[in-house]
Parts: sequence; structure tokens; C-alpha cells
Amino acid sequence: MPILDRIFTAQGSPNIAFVKYWGKRDERLILPYNSSISMTLDHAVLRTVTSVMLSEALDEDVFYLGGKPQDLGDRELKERMQILEILRKAAGSDARMLIASHNHFPTASGMASSASGIATLVYAANAALQAGLNAESMSIIARQGSGSACRSMLGGIVMWRKGTRADGSDSYAQQLFAEDYWPEVVDNIVVVSQSKKKVSSRAGMKQTADTNPLFRSRPESAEARARNLIEAYKNRDMGKLAQIIMAESNEMHALMLSTVPSIRYLNTASYALMDAVEQLNMSVGETICGYTFDAGPNANIITTQEHQPKVSKMLKEFLEDGSVQYVKTSKVGSGPKMLDDPHAALITKDMVKEHIG
Ligand code: PMV
Repeated sequence: MPILDRIFTAQGSPNIAFVKYWGKRDERLILPYNSSISMTLDHAVLRTVTSVMLSEALDEDVFYLGGKPQDLGDRELKERMQILEILRKAAGSDARMLIASHNHFPTASGMASSASGIATLVYAANAALQAGLNAESMSIIARQGSGSACRSMLGGIVMWRKGTRADGSDSYAQQLFAEDYWPEVVDNIVVVSQSKKKVSSRAGMKQTADTNPLFRSRPESAEARARNLIEAYKNRDMGKLAQIIMAESNEMHALMLSTVPSIRYLNTASYALMDAVEQLNMSVGETICGYTFDAGPNANIITTQEHQPKVSKMLKEFLEDGSVQYVKTSKVGSGPKMLDDPHAALITKDMVKEHIG
């Protein structure tokens, strides 16, 4: 039974893709052409907090983001928020929700917030609705809000299995390695720009899949890389892992570049960082770090604690000359969690008064 008039608050975090999702075989259900793998980031560095309250007094869902009411009639938001209907159906309830969410990302982190936002909302709503869904089932719902969000449903290193069924019931996220399997792994989130991307991932990946003949070989290549990445991570082999993620990032961005019209997310600072990573590896005589870029110019540089001082020294020069605005380091993080402290709740008395009475 859904619990009415009580606030449920959860916390979750974004993820960075090591093997990328780029291209949907089903636009509506958000089913990918290939499986993808990511690292969930640390709540202490980047997190979304979301509170959900169910009430019979509400006749529609209400959503506050960063303290500001959002227009749920907006097309993109409406599409993402269909997950609320799916959750209600799964719980056998028609209770409306008052939702308040906040992204605690460091100033200028430039990190995509949709993955952690959607994963955290699904997690909090599952508790409020008493739906009793496990991580796999919650990931199927989060996937329909934003593909990459399904991977934020779990901690550690996570695989989104592409699945083969037309209804998407086998396209879900699973943990491959827990966060403490290789705790020395570090992600440097390197922010070179905070401006909103010109082409959304949704539009960009559709354009690639629809127009780029090179895309035909992509699913097979991504699946092979996923297998090699799992092997490298299992062996805690940073040299191999770094080489795989760099090749993967370059393949995705090459596909984007060769799409018609061409899509380019990387800028001169991104290329300078790629050069610097390669030079550092060359100067050490082994691959100690690797870069990866999602749909934007900001780099994620993966290394281990052992080599982090060298990476930090290299990044310091970029910070000093102003080509990098901000760097945040994150270890491998855990999946979403409930926050029991009532002070963590984001639904204020004023919000309740206005919408519930
Ligand atoms: O889930 P979306 O629609 O934000 O797409 C994410 C696409 C990439 O970040 C570029 C790759 C990925 O696997 O996260």
C-alpha cells in the first residue's frame, strides 16, 4: 500500500560511460543497439537529492527542481516523467506525487544531471509507493526516462544489457563489480565548458543511427569492447582499461563527426587534454591514465590513486592557463540510498500548504 502524506527522500549520483550508449533500436521504449558499461560516481562529490510525497489531495503531479516549480507540460519533461505513470502502474496505485529535487553538483561541474535525477526519483518513488521493485526492475523504469539513467540505479561498475525482446523487459542494468572491488580507481572530472550542448544526446544519436553508414559496424564493435573492458577491470589492469576507454570514446566521437550533418562535441581544450594524457603515458613509459568524453567537451580522466599525483600535476597546468575551469575527483560510488534524516527532506511546509493544504 502506498504511504500517503509522508516524505521519502533519496540520494543518487551520475555515471560516466566507459562503453557508450549511442543509438536506439526503439525510440519510445529507449532500447539501445548495444550494451554499455559505466562507473557510478561518488555521492560525496556529485549527487542528486529527491523527496517524494504522495497525497490524495493532489490532482496532478507537482515537480520542484532546485526549489523552482517546473512545467510538467513541457514536451521533454513530459516525456521523461512518463516514468511516474509506469511506477504507479507497477505499484497498482494512482496516487499523485509532490516531488522536490536538487542537484548538488559542484559549481561548474558540467556533469549531465538527467541520469542521477531520474535514478534518484525512481528510487524515492518506489519507496513512497511501496512498490517493492528490485534494482533491475527500477532500472527498466529509469531507462524509459533517459537511457543512461538505468545505469545510475546501481553502484560500482554497471552494465546496461541491451536485451533482445521487443518489450524491453530484458534491457536492464546490472552491477558487474561492486564499488570496493577496485577502490583505487579515480575519475577526474575535468570541466572545460559549462555551456548547454547544441545537439541533445537524444537528437544526436538518432541522427547518427539514421544517416551514418559507419554506424552499421558500431554495435558489434561496442559489444567486443565491453567484453575486453570487463576482463581488464577484473584483472585490475589500468593500462588495458585506459586504452579501451580511450579507443571507445574516440570511436563514438568519430561516429558523431561523420554523421550528416556532422555533430561535434569536443573543443580545442578537449583535444589538448587528449594530447596531454597521451604525452603523460608516453613519458612514464606505460599507460597510467585514459580519457573519455560523453556528449560534451568535458573530459573524464580515469587513473588509480597511485598515479593520481602525476595526473593532478598535469591538470594543474591547464587550470593555471585557464583552459580548464574546474576539476573534481571521484572514486567509484554506490547506488541510490534512502536518507532517513528528516532534515534532508526538500519538500517544504510552504510547498505542502500550496499544493495539499
Ligand atoms: O541517456 P542519454 O540520453 O543522456 O544519453 C547518454 C549518451 C552518452 O552519455 C553520450 C553515452 C552514455 O552511455 O552515457
